[in-house]
Amino acid sequence: MTKRPLPYPVPQRQAPAERPAAPEALGAYPRVRMRRNRADAWSRALVAEHRLSAADLIWPVFVHEKPGREPIPSMPGVDRLGLGPLVEAAGEARALGIPAIAIFPATPNARKTEDGDEALNPDNLVCGAVRAVKRAYPDLGVICDVALDPYTTHGHDGLVRDGEIVNDETVAVLCKQAIVQAQAGCDVIAPSDMMDGRVGAVRDALDRAGFAHTRIMSYAAKYASAFYGPFRDAIGAVSNSPGNKRDKRSYQMDSANSDEALREVALDIAEGADMVMVKPGLPYLDVVRRVKETFGVPTFAYMVSGEYSMLRAAADNGWMDGEAAMMEALLGFKRAGADGVLTYFAIDAAKKLKQG
Ligand code: PBG
Repeated sequence: MTKRPLPYPVPQRQAPAERPAAPEALGAYPRVRMRRNRADAWSRALVAEHRLSAADLIWPVFVHEKPGREPIPSMPGVDRLGLGPLVEAAGEARALGIPAIAIFPATPNARKTEDGDEALNPDNLVCGAVRAVKRAYPDLGVICDVALDPYTTHGHDGLVRDGEIVNDETVAVLCKQAIVQAQAGCDVIAPSDMMDGRVGAVRDALDRAGFAHTRIMSYAAKYASAFYGPFRDAIGAVSNSPGNKRDKRSYQMDSANSDEALREVALDIAEGADMVMVKPGLPYLDVVRRVKETFGVPTFAYMVSGEYSMLRAAADNGWMDGEAAMMEALLGFKRAGADGVLTYFAIDAAKKLKQG
């Protein structure tokens, strides 16, 4: 490996005669004191390179068909919301300066089928939720996933034929799902299925249906991850039903790869994505950095359910200061180059930012 030059000059050792008086222990560099700027809150604020604001946050919320709220066991502090509580929550997010929410449906098992037909029902849970939020708060951004996993009995994001998750046939259904959601008033379509070619196909379908202004935020570099566990609990989706030859690793990315993430992102941009996403977040900050530096497009990171639950559990057990850890983790995304973060902590973080 060739050694890269440092991006700053390294101070040269001075002749002892020119050196000002300093304790012997400091050796050659008595003038360089990195701690001066760190000494007070005001000077730390002055030299801070990155900042988190409420405008950087997207809040993912879970909806169910019942009227009230229902706790999600593996995500303490996060509830499934009925339409009333959802609209209330949307109002709170908006008041705190959060620009957008992402709505995920916990579809009752009775409505799930092998092919996930409920995804195309214009009166399904997610479409009703979008209409309710947009009616109350037309200026709050609403994001919906395009993928079949909330609607299929097997929990896959696509159609299963002979144990295979089939690509092209799935993409045709995803295009219809995107249109149904756009018709309900969804502002941003977020394909999270990882089928090949779906961003371009969804863009064409939206344009042809008169939704040229509906944005696409693609889950461009989405890894097959154990950190999605609590999410599947939240929406009641199975990870993989027995009998399938393939699991989610046959379409989501291998966590060993980051060059491949750049290819995925390049394709999605070429196909018409307005914004791209890396998911999960904290274990993949290197990917966030590479994507932002390589393409310079609006880049988001999804701090997923397992990342939320892991911080939350440690905080709830008194093992660390949960609020400080939350703010540190979220700032880490900004430092890595993300323009924004999808996080279940959005409300807590926005409240914390407001109180300063
Ligand atoms: C569905 C989807 C998943 C997540 C977002 N959209 C799960 C999956 O792909 O299995 C995970 C989000 C989270 O864990 O918070 N395609």
